[in-house]
Amino acid sequence: MVKGAPTFTSENLAALKQRYADAGQAHVFERFGELNDEDAAAFFEQLSSIEVEDCNEFFARTMDSSKQSQQPAKIEPLESGSFDTTLDGAQDGAMDAWRAEGLRLIRENKVAVILLAGGQGSRLGSSAPKGLYDIGLPSGKPLFALQAERIRRLQQLASDDTHNATIPWLVMTSGPTSAATRAAFEKAEYFGLNADDVFFFNQGVLPCFSNDGKILLESAGRVAVAPDGNGGIYQALRLSGALDWLRSRGIEHIHSYCVDNCLVRVADPTFIGYAAQRGAECGALVVPKKSWDEPVGVICLRNRDFGVVEYSEISAEMAQMTRPETSELAYNAGNICNHYYTLDFLQHRVPEIEDKLEHHVARKKIKHLDLETGELVAPTKPNGIKLERFVFDVFPFVERMAILEVDRKDQFSPLKNAPGSGADCPETSRRDLIAQCIRFAEAAGAKVQLVDGQEPAFEISALVSYAGEGLESLKGKTLAANQLITDLDSVVTV
Ligand code: UD1
Repeated sequence: MVKGAPTFTSENLAALKQRYADAGQAHVFERFGELNDEDAAAFFEQLSSIEVEDCNEFFARTMDSSKQSQQPAKIEPLESGSFDTTLDGAQDGAMDAWRAEGLRLIRENKVAVILLAGGQGSRLGSSAPKGLYDIGLPSGKPLFALQAERIRRLQQLASDDTHNATIPWLVMTSGPTSAATRAAFEKAEYFGLNADDVFFFNQGVLPCFSNDGKILLESAGRVAVAPDGNGGIYQALRLSGALDWLRSRGIEHIHSYCVDNCLVRVADPTFIGYAAQRGAECGALVVPKKSWDEPVGVICLRNRDFGVVEYSEISAEMAQMTRPETSELAYNAGNICNHYYTLDFLQHRVPEIEDKLEHHVARKKIKHLDLETGELVAPTKPNGIKLERFVFDVFPFVERMAILEVDRKDQFSPLKNAPGSGADCPETSRRDLIAQCIRFAEAAGAKVQLVDGQEPAFEISALVSYAGEGLESLKGKTLAANQLITDLDSVVTV
């Protein structure tokens, strides 16, 4: 919702006031006369950057569709067998082929990754970017560093004598996360990656609304705005020039992922090879749900098209439904926010469908200026509306979709909640990553000596192994459960 601002002149100001008046939003100028010249110019710029008519339309359309409860979309579970699974071992041969294909595409420099890092981690109780969170690993590495190391290792695995593989890393930030994220990358020297291969871009913002559709101000000279949801990725990729940048580098396949999953297989060659071999334009990884009430979205059919029912939208009754044949949950395709796209889809198909993408209503406590009293109001219960798009809102428009079920213990351990909360928290992230490292060592033929009553602190750096490969030299060794392996020649044995 942004565009270049015109110059701040009295004529342009009058025209802008008229535009807001025509849109029924004249109140935003109510205290304009109180602003000094500098603040007035800044406010003029902000108001000019907001496509007020579009925002009104989004609000009206979203509120209208959320009222149409008489005719909700027909939601059905994915049909069993309508997607592939890596869980039953039946696909082991196919998985090798998908992985080889993914590595080939990486080797040919056709693969990029997009990190969704615009979220604020409010449930985690930290205002810093989530990717900087230290989950308490022996290495002390934050999530961004773990992801960067996987990219570095994969580049190495895919390269050969004649190809130097590079996986460009695009990082989507938002107003609240942008400065701190960029500063952290610079300070960490891009976590060992080449700065030219990292591309930051900011998602957009939308004004916050009162329940009756009036734009809220956070001060006399500033509209209250909020990030437009992770579905803002599509517009932001286009407006930032990221798509052209990818095109200029010859990229064809893209993996996007959520910042808070310590097990994420960044640029997962198996997923990329799978989706590419199926000729898909979009794809998603899913895991079976842990329990019917696990807070994850589920991939489903909405009016026979692919879609996601968010955990906040699904009823308990629907979430508990089971398949008669197997008694497993019917809505069991847990969305882990790992998506695949072709660049063609993002560059050519998404602009055709973007206008059709709905917004979702988030009812929030929004600090705002009371225009009558001039006081800042800090509500104690939700008083207004933020509009958001979700990254999976494009699914219903996808013509060729590829959904792959993977093992949660290999690829999904989200960090959502504060320390000590017992689920999806720093302790579970740490536990799951350490358990994976132990499994990698054991699969290579080593034994990790666990000591009763002691939490293992066993970590294998992703620079040594991306997904358990390359650990043959550990075979037959008994390893101390309290070590960080960054070099296979210096492991501690007992
Ligand atoms: C998300 C999925 C949910 C899935 C779950 C798995 C969406 C809308 N929902 O839910 O279906 O089961 O992850 O962990 O994707 N983000 C932005 N900008 C924003 C908001 C979020 O970039 O404005 C990013 C976050 O930084 C994060 C990702 O999007 O990387 C997911 O956001 P989060 O708020 O964690 O989503 P969940 O509600 O957990």
